Amino acid sequence: MEQYIIRGGNPLVGEVEIGGAKNAALAILAASIMTDETVVIENLPDVRDINVLIQAMQSVGAMVERMDRHTVKVNGSTIRDLTIEDDYIKKIRASYYLLGALLGKYKKGEVALPGGCNIGSRPIDQHIKGFKALGADVRIAHGLIITEAEKLKGSHIYLDVVSVGATINIMMAATMAEGQTIIENAAKEPHVVDLANFLNSMGANIKGAGTDVIRIKGVQKLHRTEYSVIPDQIEAGTFMFAAAATKGDITVKNVIPKHLESISAKLMEIGCEIEESDDAVRVVSSKPLTHTHVKTLPYPGFPTDMQPQIAVTLALSEGTSIVTESIFENRFKYVDELTRMGASIKVEGNTAIIDGVRKYTGAHISAPDLRAGAALVIAGLAAEGFTTIDDILYIQRGYEDFEIKLRGLGANIEKVSSEKEAQKFKLKVG
Ligand code: EPZ
Repeated sequence: MEQYIIRGGNPLVGEVEIGGAKNAALAILAASIMTDETVVIENLPDVRDINVLIQAMQSVGAMVERMDRHTVKVNGSTIRDLTIEDDYIKKIRASYYLLGALLGKYKKGEVALPGGCNIGSRPIDQHIKGFKALGADVRIAHGLIITEAEKLKGSHIYLDVVSVGATINIMMAATMAEGQTIIENAAKEPHVVDLANFLNSMGANIKGAGTDVIRIKGVQKLHRTEYSVIPDQIEAGTFMFAAAATKGDITVKNVIPKHLESISAKLMEIGCEIEESDDAVRVVSSKPLTHTHVKTLPYPGFPTDMQPQIAVTLALSEGTSIVTESIFENRFKYVDELTRMGASIKVEGNTAIIDGVRKYTGAHISAPDLRAGAALVIAGLAAEGFTTIDDILYIQRGYEDFEIKLRGLGANIEKVSSEKEAQKFKLKVG
């Protein structure tokens, strides 16, 4: 089993290129099968979640050809099967985006029920509510969600909870429904906007993405397009907090600073200096960091996918901080691991009370999920001594070349798959 091994203590300094947004790319890949013409998608991150979704698309017969590491050519005209097998949905929940795409295009689709992830129960009742509002019959049988419609008719849908996935899935199905659909209380994340722009580039008629009311006028057909995915705000934010926690100086490049506003604001609040330019943000952490309070919220609030990363940093900041997780009910699993490194955090319900400590000491820990795993890498980079992190498969789901990019910033980190390699690394870095 591969592990990361880290010798902490180096301030991270330099520039890092940010890749395409995983959560935008997943939605765009799913939507790309909605036309029978050829679609070229650029700036795809080469991460496990993307590669599993491509396999799921190929499993129903879509042609997906990789032009280079970050570009694919898709043609959905060869789709013969409308059932997404369980083993794809088991690997990534986002396979359920294919349901909205298949329903929109073929008025039919089947996908295995996605399991709850280890950050919460993750129901899909809002997705189902939207499909039904559009006139689809939705039933659950043998662990599958089966949806079918004579025809899809536009509807006025009010989401009971702001849901990125439901907004995306309903948007895809409504794109080829008859008439107008209005989605109220819609998610406003940059990846929702990116999907709307992608669909519009294929001939869809979607207005208001990025606000909480999205208006969609259904169209009969969608056509070819070439599209480049937006930069990943969460990958960028992860490196920004790595700068803060290691007292470093990092410039994240190829970003959209507007998407990082809540992250930059919190970094300034705790004592970092932020310099913004058109497509880059520089984070300098030269003073002792101070405490703050943060609550995760739907965009443009502070992202839940950045919650572990800010908590790891606040645990090294002076004073007592409070982190409230308002989106998922089980997103503090990393706290036990961080405690083993010397953090002083008390979790009560969906709130973590953090008393800053002077330093972390390295330990043998494991990644409980994708973003928590990335946050624990940040802790290892800031810690005194060696940290070994197990279950890094989680981290590879969403971060391309993570250890390579970190080494480019001066980190002593290696991906190892044996005790022998670990020992060699320890001797090398001393
Ligand atoms: C997306 O998950 C992201 N995943 C998550 O990122 C991200 O944390 C989340 O949005 C919030 O930003 C992808 O884009 C692939 P939601 P999603 O539906 O769509 C409740 C990562 O690290 N809800 O916005 O599943 C739900 O329980 C991943 O990249 C319902 O009640 O999130 C949660 O409390 C982790 N009913 C809240 O809404 C529903 O039908 C927000 O969930 C759907 C959701």
